[in-house]
Amino acid sequence: MVMTNFLQKRKSVRDFKNKSVSRFNIETIKSFIDEISEETNNVGFKFYENGSIISKGLQGKAGYHGVMIEAPSYVALIQKDNSEESYINTGYYLEKLNTQIVNLDLDSCWITLDEVDDETKKQLFGEEGPKVNYVIGFGHGVGKKLFTPETTSGRYSRDEIVFKNEIGENISEEELENLGLIEIFSSIRYAPSHMNTQPWRFVVKEHEIYLFMIKSDNNSRSLVDIGVSMFYFEEMAKTIGRYGKWDIILKDNSEYLEIAKFTM
Ligand SMILES: Cc1cc2nc3c(=O)[nH]c(=O)nc-3n(C[C@H](O)[C@H](O)[C@H](O)COP(=O)(O)O)c2cc1C
Repeated sequence: MVMTNFLQKRKSVRDFKNKSVSRFNIETIKSFIDEISEETNNVGFKFYENGSIISKGLQGKAGYHGVMIEAPSYVALIQKDNSEESYINTGYYLEKLNTQIVNLDLDSCWITLDEVDDETKKQLFGEEGPKVNYVIGFGHGVGKKLFTPETTSGRYSRDEIVFKNEIGENISEEELENLGLIEIFSSIRYAPSHMNTQPWRFVVKEHEIYLFMIKSDNNSRSLVDIGVSMFYFEEMAKTIGRYGKWDIILKDNSEYLEIAKFTM
C-alpha cells in the first residue's frame, strides 16, 4: 500500500484474538528483523513468538491505563544507549518493523516500558533487559477492522504542524503544492506517538525542511515519537522521487529541540 494511504488509515489495536500468528508470518517477520539488523548497528531486536511470558510478566506494569496489552507475539527493541540519537533510532527502526508487520495484515500496538523496573526487564528479556524501553505486540485484532477511520485518535491539522521559515508562520496550500509536499504533510500528521502527543513541527525553508520537537517533561519519549515521524517522512519522500535522509542537528532552542534537516 502507498505509504500516504497506509499512514492515514493505520491505527493501534489493543485487543487481540486468542489466535497465533501463522508460521509463514512469523518467519517473514524474522526475516524483516534480519534485514533491518543488517542496515543498522544502532538497535537490536528480540522476538517472542509465544507472548504469554511477556504479557504475564508486564501485567500491571505497562500497557494501556495500567492494563497490559495481551498479544499473541511481541518484538522488543534493545536500545544502544541513552543518547538522544538512540531514542530517535528506537522510534525510527521499531516503526519501520511495525509497518512491515501491519502490511502482513496483522494488527499491532506499541507498548512503553521505560518505567518498568530493571529486575522485571532482566527476567523477561535477559541481561540486556534494562535497555528495552519499548515492545510491539501484534496478532489478529478483535472486532474492529484494522483500517476503520472512526477508531483512529484525533490529530493536529496540517497548519498546526507545518510552517514556513519559522514555527508560527503560515505556509499556504499553494506553496506546499508547488514544492510537491502537500500529500506528505497531509499524511505525516497521522504518525503514531505516545499518548498521541504529536511533538513534531516542520519548517519549510526554500528547499530544506527542518524538523523540531516540542520539549516536554519527558523528552526521551518525544524523541522516540520524532524517530517515528522521521521514518514516515523519508518513506513518503521516496514516493515523490526524493531518496534523501534526515541530517541530524540536535540543537536546543529553549522551547524546541531542533532535530534534523531534510534537503529536497
Ligand atoms: C513511541 C510510542 C509509544 C506508545 N506507547 C503506548 C503504550 O504504552 N500503550 C498504549 O496503549 N499505546 C501506546 N502507543 C500507541 C499510541 O497511544 C497511539 O499510537 C496514539 O494514541 C495514536 O493512536 P492510533 O495509533 O490509534 O492512531 C504508543 C505509540 C508510540 C509511537
